[in-house]
Amino acid sequence: MKIEACQSAFTGVGVGPGDPGLITIRAADRILHADVVSYICSAPGRSQARDIAGGLLEEAPGHQEELPFVVPMNDDRTPANRIYDLAASDIQQRIDAGKRVVFLCEGDPLFFGSFAYLLIRLVHNRCEVVPGISSMHAASAALQRPLTLLDESFAVASGRHDLGQIVQTLDAHDSVVIMKAGRSRPRIIEALERAGRTEEAVYLEYIGRDNQRVETDVSRLPVEAGPYFSLFLVMRAGRAVK
Ligand SMILES: C[S@@+](CC[C@H](N)C(=O)[O-])C[C@H]1O[C@@H](n2cnc3c(N)ncnc32)[C@H](O)[C@@H]1O
Repeated sequence: MKIEACQSAFTGVGVGPGDPGLITIRAADRILHADVVSYICSAPGRSQARDIAGGLLEEAPGHQEELPFVVPMNDDRTPANRIYDLAASDIQQRIDAGKRVVFLCEGDPLFFGSFAYLLIRLVHNRCEVVPGISSMHAASAALQRPLTLLDESFAVASGRHDLGQIVQTLDAHDSVVIMKAGRSRPRIIEALERAGRTEEAVYLEYIGRDNQRVETDVSRLPVEAGPYFSLFLVMRAGRAVK
């Protein structure tokens, strides 16, 4: 198979939701041929994207510099924006030195991806985005259930939405994915109850990882915060797939 050679100085690479087998061929090519591999960590040494691509990095033919950035995950965007400024400047230095930089992104780079904050700062360079398989697609594949069919409506909500917004989305759409469940799990459980859709919901965490968990009976979930890498899929009960 012939892969078009990389012409870009800065490439955002989606590495999929967890299983390295879901890294696309183009993503693998870009990772293997990069001079600098950058990624975000939630704490020093803790990066989901780096973990997913770890096996490939071991196979890289030449020396690669790793450039991790620890981004504080809280509601105040100011500290995070400072890190993105710093990261953009560090990456720009490498680009100016003629290096090819890839930025590893968990799932798809531009679907709820922090990569967007770097792209906007570095877009004046020659950039490329390699799409990745997002967690919601991995979720429907894990359940072997279609996200949407025919005239069904489909929406993506976020655990960052308030209770009313989540209920409204659940009322208005046939299929709903609720991303960023983590800390918001109690609010999402309440929203599902208010919308009368608890029985139609499935909860998934760490999809594609060794510790993947699928809970089809959401009423059994403790009403407390769960891990960051978790989401809900809500689909109409009794829909016919013919
Ligand atoms: C910052 S967003 C990144 C989304 C990612 N770019 C994608 O395409 O799926 C992080 C959220 O994605 C979801 N997520 C990502 N990977 C996941 C996984 N392996 N299992 C469950 N949820 C995941 C969770 O809802 C998590 O809070």
